[in-house]
Amino acid sequence: MTPPSDRSRSIAQVFDRVAPTYDSVGVAWFRPIAEHLVRELAPRAGERALDVGSGRGAVLLPLAERVGPTGHVTGIDLASGMIEALRSDIDAAGLTNADVRLQDASAPDLDPASFDLLASSLVLFFLPDPPAALRQWFDLLVPGGRIGVTTFGPRDQNFIAVDSVFTPFLPQQMLDARTSGTAGPFADDAGVENLLSEAGFVDIRTDHLEISAVFRDAEHWVEWSWSHGQRAMWEAVPQEQHPQVRAEIARILSAAQDPSGTITLRQQVRYTFGRRPSPRPGSSGLS
Ligand SMILES: C[S@@+](CC[C@H](N)C(=O)[O-])C[C@H]1O[C@@H](n2cnc3c(N)ncnc32)[C@H](O)[C@@H]1O
Repeated sequence: MTPPSDRSRSIAQVFDRVAPTYDSVGVAWFRPIAEHLVRELAPRAGERALDVGSGRGAVLLPLAERVGPTGHVTGIDLASGMIEALRSDIDAAGLTNADVRLQDASAPDLDPASFDLLASSLVLFFLPDPPAALRQWFDLLVPGGRIGVTTFGPRDQNFIAVDSVFTPFLPQQMLDARTSGTAGPFADDAGVENLLSEAGFVDIRTDHLEISAVFRDAEHWVEWSWSHGQRAMWEAVPQEQHPQVRAEIARILSAAQDPSGTITLRQQVRYTFGRRPSPRPGSSGLS
C-alpha cells in the first residue's frame, strides 16, 4: 500500500489533536453540513456506504441510521485520534452496521465496486492530488453508485476578516487557497464538477447551503477555532504573539455582535454529486 504523503501525515496530526473537542464546543457546524449531504444522497435501507475522512462521524452516524441494520457504513480517516473516538461513539451507540478504519483517502485499501454510495465532507481539498483520489473513489463504487462531496464556497466579510488575521503567519502550503475557495479547482462549482467529471462520474450536479455559525462571544469563537482544522493556523502563530492575535480577532468580532452579544458568521457550503455510469443494457463494459 502507498504510504501517506508527509503533507497528509501532518494534516492528520492536527486532526489527532482536535479529535477530543471536535464538533463538541456548542457550535452547530459539521453536523448540519453533513445532514444535508446525507439527505441528498438518499441512502436506502440495505445499502453499503463509505464515508471518506469520517472525522467524529458527522456523516457516518446519520448514514448508518439511513441504511439500517441490513446495510453497512465504513468510515476511513488518517487521524488515529478521530478513528478511536468515533469507534468508541459507534460502540456506545450500540451500532452494529458501522466500522471505521485507519486509512489514507488518497489510497484506500478497500475492495473495488464494493459500495453503493460514497460521501466525503470537507476532505477532498486536504488531499495532495484530488483528481487521483477521485479516480480511486470511482473504482470503489458499483456501477450506478452515487458520490457526494462537500467543499467550501464564499464566506461573509467578518468570517474573511478573522481568518485573514492569521495570514501573515501561515507557511506557503497553508496559504493554498483551495480550502477557502478563492483559487484552483475548489474556487467555484465548475472546478469541483470538473474534478468529478474527469474521474469518470456522470450526472454531476451542485447545490448549496448557507450555514450560520453562532457564537456566544469572541472567546467562544476562539474555543471553536481550536477544535477543528483551524487549529493549524493557531499553531503557526508564535506563542508570544497569541495575545495580539486574540485581541485583533476580538476587535473584529465585537463589530459583528448583535445587541444580545451573539456573533453569527455565515459560510456557503458547496455540495457536488455524481454517479458512476451504469453499464448500457446488453453491454459488458461501462457506458
Ligand atoms: C474537516 S474534517 C471533516 C470530518 C467529517 N467528514 C465531518 O464532516 O465532520 C477533515 C477530516 O479528514 C481527515 N483527513 C484529512 N486528510 C486525510 C487523508 N489523507 N486520508 C483520510 N482522512 C483524512 C481528517 O483527519 C479529518 O477527520
